[in-house]
Amino acid sequence: MALLVTLSVVTAIILLFFAIDHAPPPPALSDPVPISQLGISLHNQGTQHQLLKPKDVKVIGLIFFGRKDRVQILKCYLERNLAVNGGWLDEVHWVRNTDRKEDVDYLHQIIAANPAYKQIEIKETGFIGYGLAWSTLQVDAIYVKIDDDVVFLADDTIPRMVSTKLGHPEYLVVSANMINSPLMGWVHYHMGAIHPYLPEVIEPEEVSPELAPERGKRPPPVQRVPWRHTQHPFWEGPDDYLFDFMQEPPSMRHRWLRLATPDGNAARQIMRTPISDAQYDTWGNSVQSWAIAAQQHYSFLENLYEDQLDLYQFSSRAHAWITDYRRLSINCVAINSTEILSYLPMDTVDEEWLTVVLPKKIGKSVAVDSHALAVHFSFGGQGNVQATDLLGRYLDYAQENACMAPSSMPKGEKGSYYT
Ligand SMILES: *[C@@H]1O[C@H](CO)[C@@H](O)[C@H](O)[C@H]1NC(C)=O
Repeated sequence: MALLVTLSVVTAIILLFFAIDHAPPPPALSDPVPISQLGISLHNQGTQHQLLKPKDVKVIGLIFFGRKDRVQILKCYLERNLAVNGGWLDEVHWVRNTDRKEDVDYLHQIIAANPAYKQIEIKETGFIGYGLAWSTLQVDAIYVKIDDDVVFLADDTIPRMVSTKLGHPEYLVVSANMINSPLMGWVHYHMGAIHPYLPEVIEPEEVSPELAPERGKRPPPVQRVPWRHTQHPFWEGPDDYLFDFMQEPPSMRHRWLRLATPDGNAARQIMRTPISDAQYDTWGNSVQSWAIAAQQHYSFLENLYEDQLDLYQFSSRAHAWITDYRRLSINCVAINSTEILSYLPMDTVDEEWLTVVLPKKIGKSVAVDSHALAVHFSFGGQGNVQATDLLGRYLDYAQENACMAPSSMPKGEKGSYYT
C-alpha cells in the first residue's frame, strides 16, 4: 500500500514535470535546479525500472580523462549512474590522459571527493597510454569504457549496454547508440532523426577579434547557453544559401539555428545542410566534418526537448545493429574484462583491435544497442565543434537535469555524498 502511494506520488511528480516542460520556456537562465533526486530524468525514454542489475556482476566505468570542460558535464551523468545512487556503476576508474596542470588538478579534486572514484596509474599518455590502460583491467567485471567528451547519457543507457552484453555472449563489444559516430550518424539521418539546421549567418566584419575563428586557437571558456532550440530564433538567410560540410565556422561561440519548415517539407530544407552528404564510413566525412557533427548535436537537443529520442531507436523487438568487421568508434562501449585480458597484448590501436582484429579472430560480433543512447562531442578532426555554443548547451542541460545535488550528510561516507 505504502508502495502504491509512493508510486502515485512519483507519477504525479513526473506528470507535473512534463506539464512544466511544455509551458513557454523561461526567458532567463536560473541556477541549477536539482530535479534529479528521484533518479528520474524528464527527457529520456528511461526503462531502468525494468532492468535489474544482477547482484554478482561487478560493473566498472573506465574513463580516459583529458579535459575539465567536458568532464564537468560527464561527471553529472556518471554520478547518477553510481550504484550508491541506484545506478549500475559500482566504481569508476579514471585513466589520466593529459599533463595539463589545470585539468590534472580537476581530476585529483573529483577523485578525492568521491569514494567510488579511483585513479588508474599508467606511465604514458596518448595512444601508448590507451593501450597500456587495458592491461590494468580487473578480472571478471563488465567495464563500460566512456570517453571524457561523452556529454549525455540517458538514464537507461548503461543498464541497457550491460544487459545486452550479459545476454549476448556472442557480442564481444556492445556499443551505445552514439550521436556523432561515423557509422551511426548516417543511420540516424536516414531514419529521420536529423533536422535542418544551419550556422547563424554572421558577416566577417561583425565578428570581434577575440571571437575570430582561427585554426588551433584555444576556444574561449565554456558559457552556459539555453539548451532548448525554442529559446533561440529560427534561421534567417538567403533562399539559395548552402553550408558545405567542410566550410569554416563563421565565428567562435556561434550558434546553429533551426530552418523553419512551414510547408512541412523538412526533406527539401535538409538538402541545404551538411548532413545530406554524410557517408556510412569509419574514415569518411562524418568523422572529419565538424559541421556534420554540429548538425547532429543541435538535432539531438531538439529531439531531447521534443521527447522523441525514440527516433534513434529500432523497434523494441529488433536486434542490435551489427558492424562486423568495420571499425567502430569506441566512445562508449561495454566489454567483459576476462575476455579482453586473455588475448592481450594488443598488436594495434585499441579501437581497431577491439572492433576488428579480436572479434574476427575469435568469431564474435560488435553490436550497437540502438536503445542505449549517448552523445559523443567530437573527434580529433572535428575540433571546430568547439567554435559552436554546443558545450554551453550540454552544460546547461546537465546542470538543469542531470547533476545531483550534494546531500547535507557528511561527505566521504558510502552513499551519503549524493542523494
Ligand atoms: C566474462 O567472460 C568469462 C569468460 O568467457 C565468463 O566466464 C564470465 O562469466 C563473463 N563474466 C560476466 C560478468 O559475464
